[in-house]
Amino acid sequence: MLNSLPMSKSRTRTEKIPVKIFSSSDEGSVFVAKEIAALIKIRQLEGKPCVLGLATGSTPTRVYAELIRLHQKEKLSFKHVHTFNLDEYYPMEPGSIQSYVRFMREHLFDHIDILKKNIHIPDGTIPKEKIQDFCRNYEKRIELLGGIDIQLLGVGRTGHIGFNEPGSSEKSITRLITLDQVTRLDAASDFFGEENVPSKAITMGVGTILKAKKIIMLAWGEGKAAIIQKAVEGPVTDQIPSTFLQNHSNAIVVLDEASSSQLTKVKTPWLLDTVEEWGDKLIRKAVVWLCQTLNKPILKLTNNDYAEHGMGDIITEWGSAYQVNIKVFNELQHTITGWPGGKPKADDTHRPERAKPFPKRVVIFSPHPDDDVISMGGTFIRLVDQGHNVHVAYQTSGNIAVFDDDVVRFTDFVNDFNTQYSLNKSESERLFKKVVQSLRKKTPGEIDSQEVMRIKGLIRRGEAKAGCRYVGIPDKNIHFLDMPFYETGLVKKKPLAEKDIRIIVDLLEEIKPHQIYAAGDLSDPHGTHRVCLSAIFQAMDRLKKKPWAKDCYLWLYRGAWQEWDIDQIEMAVPLSPDELFKKRRAIFKHQSQKDSALFPGNDAREFWVRAEDRNHATAHAYNQLGLAEYEAIEAFVRYKFN
Ligand code: F6R
Repeated sequence: MLNSLPMSKSRTRTEKIPVKIFSSSDEGSVFVAKEIAALIKIRQLEGKPCVLGLATGSTPTRVYAELIRLHQKEKLSFKHVHTFNLDEYYPMEPGSIQSYVRFMREHLFDHIDILKKNIHIPDGTIPKEKIQDFCRNYEKRIELLGGIDIQLLGVGRTGHIGFNEPGSSEKSITRLITLDQVTRLDAASDFFGEENVPSKAITMGVGTILKAKKIIMLAWGEGKAAIIQKAVEGPVTDQIPSTFLQNHSNAIVVLDEASSSQLTKVKTPWLLDTVEEWGDKLIRKAVVWLCQTLNKPILKLTNNDYAEHGMGDIITEWGSAYQVNIKVFNELQHTITGWPGGKPKADDTHRPERAKPFPKRVVIFSPHPDDDVISMGGTFIRLVDQGHNVHVAYQTSGNIAVFDDDVVRFTDFVNDFNTQYSLNKSESERLFKKVVQSLRKKTPGEIDSQEVMRIKGLIRRGEAKAGCRYVGIPDKNIHFLDMPFYETGLVKKKPLAEKDIRIIVDLLEEIKPHQIYAAGDLSDPHGTHRVCLSAIFQAMDRLKKKPWAKDCYLWLYRGAWQEWDIDQIEMAVPLSPDELFKKRRAIFKHQSQKDSALFPGNDAREFWVRAEDRNHATAHAYNQLGLAEYEAIEAFVRYKFN
């Protein structure tokens, strides 16, 4: 138990696999691509084949993008590279949109000069009785080439590597396996429903992976933080197959800050060693942790509490627990404001937002048409009620998350409506029939027709407008950006392009906001939030010298998956029970998302329930720290772009 920690620090390294932490996944990906490129070049000079073990999923995509760039811009050749992919669903046609064969072609192989014969991916089409032979042969081919030089890995929420689910033995080899329920849930969006996800896959074994000369496991985003902590610091167990990497002599884990956040050296560095520099942020983090560990409010922490938990240096620096307590208490107190747009005519020295100008022009960016109300509905309502000129910009159409039967329902409505009012009846009847027919023919996971995609987008538009009207903003302040990167009809999106960023730049130039809100959420299972945020950052980078931008604050809210840690929060907007109820009703306007629990990465709770649980939890945490007791709190972090 932490409560009984000895006075001296443990000074032990808790990581059992070397870890490299980068400030962003982009930087981490470039590092990994460079490592791979360096080896490719060495092998080329030696005149030997370079054997790579490759992974699919959202994690390695930017490594592949960088390898493509190195090939195109720096002439990196893959002619002598041989690849072995970790896994493939079974059964699976290689042309199918969920196939890892197709994934690898789209993300890497079609863009480099690798020889087709050197590409190996488990075959999802072989008859069952031949699978064993196939797998044995797969292993043999790796051996004949001298083994894998570098094995890239992602990690699943179950801790799986490849598709080696919990229970896989350390010695396991390439084989047919049954997928875990959590893995199937995570793949549900790729297959448009969990029921369509194959129950089996062919995967390289843990033993196959461990034979690689070097292993690089990657993980990005806060959604991976918990499993990374277990994989890197926990005991080796077949219940978390990634822990087996601890037994490899040349494995490394590459992380961004978000995915490293649960590692001891990041989460509680004071428990390990003397902290070189106790900055304000680290002190706040440590004090919040101490309160939560001891179940005490801030103002009741004593010198002893600090000393016994590796934080004696803070007391030496600040004089006494009392001084530190007051400092942190005040900092947290100052994050709380019922005036997210700034309180007019008030002293704003210690407020998160400036009093002037008042009212403010505000732009709320919402990656999908509903993140605005789910993540910051209470603050949205307050901003409008307090007289600010609030605009909402829906970055994507969100069409992928609409069920087919809703399309039939809405098209049928339009058809009936037109019939009742004798409006262009034949045209709408024709469209209705066409839509129904195309949906009937559609196989699970198949891309929608243009009409269906458009109708799905319109359904979400209608809901978003209803939500905005309910909160009280005029229609002219609702902007549907339909950013092109999203419009593939597939879970896999296009890379962010100039036209995406241009759309954001143009909107901001037009409105010249004093305040921007954006989803600072990295753990979106589709990565859409991540891309949407990147577009805003790139736009602001171009605009930061403009006079209006110099006077603009950018606030980040967290999307539907996770909340900011208490010590990170820079603006906490309390909600009364009535306001929370109003927020719930605004979320209810997004009826097509009611079945959101069916989507990947989501637990079984609907969005409004998760949003309320989260807002209650933040309020509870503030209360436990000895601050005021509120019903609910929405939380924001300020991003300083200039
Ligand atoms: C992919 C694979 C899996 C993924 C893991 C993480 O070939 O074998 O182990 O690496 O499920 O998936 P993402 O990267 O989508 O989070």
